[in-house]
Amino acid sequence: MAVRIHPSILSADFANLERDLGAIATADYAHVDVMDQHFVPNLTLGLPVVRRLAQVSPVPLDVHLMIEDADRWAPEYAAAGAASVTFHAEAAQAPVRLARELREHGVRAGIALRPASPVEPLLDLLAEFDMVLVMTVEPGFGGQSFIEGTLPKLRRLRQAVRESGTGTWIQVDGGVARDTIGRIARAGADTFVAGSAVYGAADVAAEIAALRELAEAPIQA
Ligand code: DX5
Ligand code: ZN
Repeated sequence: MAVRIHPSILSADFANLERDLGAIATADYAHVDVMDQHFVPNLTLGLPVVRRLAQVSPVPLDVHLMIEDADRWAPEYAAAGAASVTFHAEAAQAPVRLARELREHGVRAGIALRPASPVEPLLDLLAEFDMVLVMTVEPGFGGQSFIEGTLPKLRRLRQAVRESGTGTWIQVDGGVARDTIGRIARAGADTFVAGSAVYGAADVAAEIAALRELAEAPIQA
């Protein structure tokens, strides 16, 4: 099973986003956190910035929308040049319709769950989504500590993906670092967002390689 590392530019230098995207050319995607100060108590960046980032990034953009009214706004991020658009289940009126609309735009459609949101309602619908993002911290800020209680949800999801044969990616976001990534991979994740771990490292490329190796170890074992 392939392992993907998606550094989150939430921990990059917002005055030097092009430079900091250049530093993660060995990653699989760049994770872009869009926050609206309503769905989460933080405000980051929106469509005009994503449009420019898509033009200068050496890797495709994985946009994580932490915004209300996802049905209205998510397709705009597909049109802005994202390769993958993930909206929150808690913020969408019609998640399946929205995922289909995203796929019609030619992007990967992802659905995200807060730590306390159950995964069971999605398990029969995995064919509709290219990725399920299990938040492993409450969304809103980088640098929080990993919530261990999300691991059983990852295990249930991995089993359902295996049974479904859909190949849906399982992403984790929040508190992913050298000391947590091994057991997160063992629980079933294959796509890892890491913000502070990557951009807080002295050597960003070496950190991406180290995380990749630690994530691959339990999968190959
Ligand atoms: C938090 C964001 C994350 C954030 C993760 O709501 O969705 O992508 O950047 O930060 P770390 O990896 O530092 O926990
Ligand atoms: Zn995120």
